[in-house]
Amino acid sequence: MALDPAFLDELRARTPIAPVIGRRTKLVRSGRNWKACCPFHGEKTPSFYVYDDHYHCFGCQAHGDVITFVMQSEGRSFPEAVEELATAAGMEMPKPDPVRREQAERARTLGDVLEAVQASWQRRLYQPEGREGLAYLRGRGLTDETIAAFGLGWSGEGRGGLAAEMAALDITPAMLRDAGVMRADENGVPQRELFFNRVTFPIRDRRGRLVSFGGRILGDGQPKYLNGPETALFSKRRVLFGLDRAREAVRGGRGAGAELLVVEGYMDVIALHQAGFGGAVAPLGTALTAEQMEALWQVAPAPVLCFDGDAAGQRAAVKAAETALPLLNVDRTLRFCVLPEGEDPDSLLRRDGPAAMEALVTSARPMGQVLFGLLSEGVRNPGPEQRAALRRRLVEVAALIPDKALASEYRSTLLDSFFETFRRSGGRGGAARPMAAATPVATLDADLQRQCILSAIILEQPGVLAEVQDAYCRLELPADLAALREELLDLYDASASLPPPDELAATLSRAGLGDICQRVRAIRGRRTRGQADDDVFGTDSRHEWWHFYALLNVERFAAEVRADTERLCAGQVDEAAWQSLRTRLLALDTLRRGGNEVDG
Ligand code: UTP
Ligand code: MN
Repeated sequence: MALDPAFLDELRARTPIAPVIGRRTKLVRSGRNWKACCPFHGEKTPSFYVYDDHYHCFGCQAHGDVITFVMQSEGRSFPEAVEELATAAGMEMPKPDPVRREQAERARTLGDVLEAVQASWQRRLYQPEGREGLAYLRGRGLTDETIAAFGLGWSGEGRGGLAAEMAALDITPAMLRDAGVMRADENGVPQRELFFNRVTFPIRDRRGRLVSFGGRILGDGQPKYLNGPETALFSKRRVLFGLDRAREAVRGGRGAGAELLVVEGYMDVIALHQAGFGGAVAPLGTALTAEQMEALWQVAPAPVLCFDGDAAGQRAAVKAAETALPLLNVDRTLRFCVLPEGEDPDSLLRRDGPAAMEALVTSARPMGQVLFGLLSEGVRNPGPEQRAALRRRLVEVAALIPDKALASEYRSTLLDSFFETFRRSGGRGGAARPMAAATPVATLDADLQRQCILSAIILEQPGVLAEVQDAYCRLELPADLAALREELLDLYDASASLPPPDELAATLSRAGLGDICQRVRAIRGRRTRGQADDDVFGTDSRHEWWHFYALLNVERFAAEVRADTERLCAGQVDEAAWQSLRTRLLALDTLRRGGNEVDG
């Protein structure tokens, strides 16, 4: 039965995994997650971890989601497990869908067609017509064992030979077209074979089912590689070449434990496997997609991506990082390594041997460490605008990570590296900044007033900035307030503090920011601190700052406080961070007790 993926997603979302597993084995907290003694192999100390949507046993490599768990622990088939969980979740099973069933049947027969083609091509490689192809593969250092393991073949010359051979098996040209091995004309009528005079690479999905082919021309010529078109079975953005074997090598029972490596090409994957790197996979000539990353993470929590040492490799790495960030969490990340310039893994193995590749993989660095380098590549002695742009980008990039705690860790790391790398050496002339037209106070909305007050507090109590700079950096501000912030942060960077208010005002006005300073002061002045405020904030300007920051977005503020609390409780002893946390808790408390009346 083919079940609608949307139904399965809904089912997984509505069925928290921990309680289901908790019925089988006793769960104990492990940070955000749970651990237990593995129900699938006898053990006395827990190595079975339960995350929000999957489990993993570091002892026996058992791994899966809530549906797999029911299958494995109760010996159910997939549909049975789904039905059991759906009933428990109060969800009705979808009626069998005739179109979907037909699609599934069709897909099965397409698979059969592909297997018939594969058998033919594989046979041809060892027949006289395949002599050149075989010589080519051997000439590239592949053993017959490797050639057989990957099912490499020879396509023939493409003069209708394939269609004729397949006709004997009741496989029609239309079926060959649907399977992606024949081209059709504009009316959809199958015309020519797609692959001819090429060595062929069967492409399998992660379960080892044949879904398409790639083909390489012998020697030079264009296009060097050809990949099958999108079909009912094959979606280029989902499939990774070699993932079926890599999965075995990484997770397989034989204490396998290979590293999951992502490289660029077919030949890299094959050469790596032959050299003992069983965990190698490659996308099919495109940048890694989000779907492919999901597929990788199902196999290993921190796959290693190998990139070329040139500018294109750098760009590809940035792109991969950007694709990955919105998907990261505490147990899904990436590692990066960089190949020597001009080499790919295949050529590196041939030139320097497996030890060089091993060293490269060992040198792979985690995302958090390489991200700053990737994003700041090429930035040398940045001017103020470039500095500001880079800092904004770092903050934005960290904000792509949905897990709040992780995002704030990345942000701190990125900003730390930023300040370390680009600490300003000298003063900068007061470049005037473009200024938005002055907004009449009466039309200011509440949030803008708060943003102005936050800025004004810093002007009046510059000492506050040390504590609030992270949050201040994160605020989305209109252009003029953002310009003021940039200048304040730049001044702060220069000496890790701000000058006293009068001196600060003079400096800012020399930088062309006198107007905006005056305006934010005026807005704050409209609500000069009264008795009520003094009761709440005392002389604690930091408390007041956090109060107005919190009013901008209470949810976000509470989440940040929560994340920092967890971080601190996890043992990062940092006096200033505790101080700040205390103040912010106070601010939250004020708000909850109806502090809203303290607002402008
Ligand atoms: P490369 O050009 O880096 O090739 O393409 P390679 O893997 O080193 O190939 P060899 O060593 O010359 O045989 C990397 C990948 O990009 C896709 C293929 O998937 C290839 O493996 N590609 C490349 C294409 O789809 N079409 C092409 O014309 C070239
Ligand atoms: Mn190559």
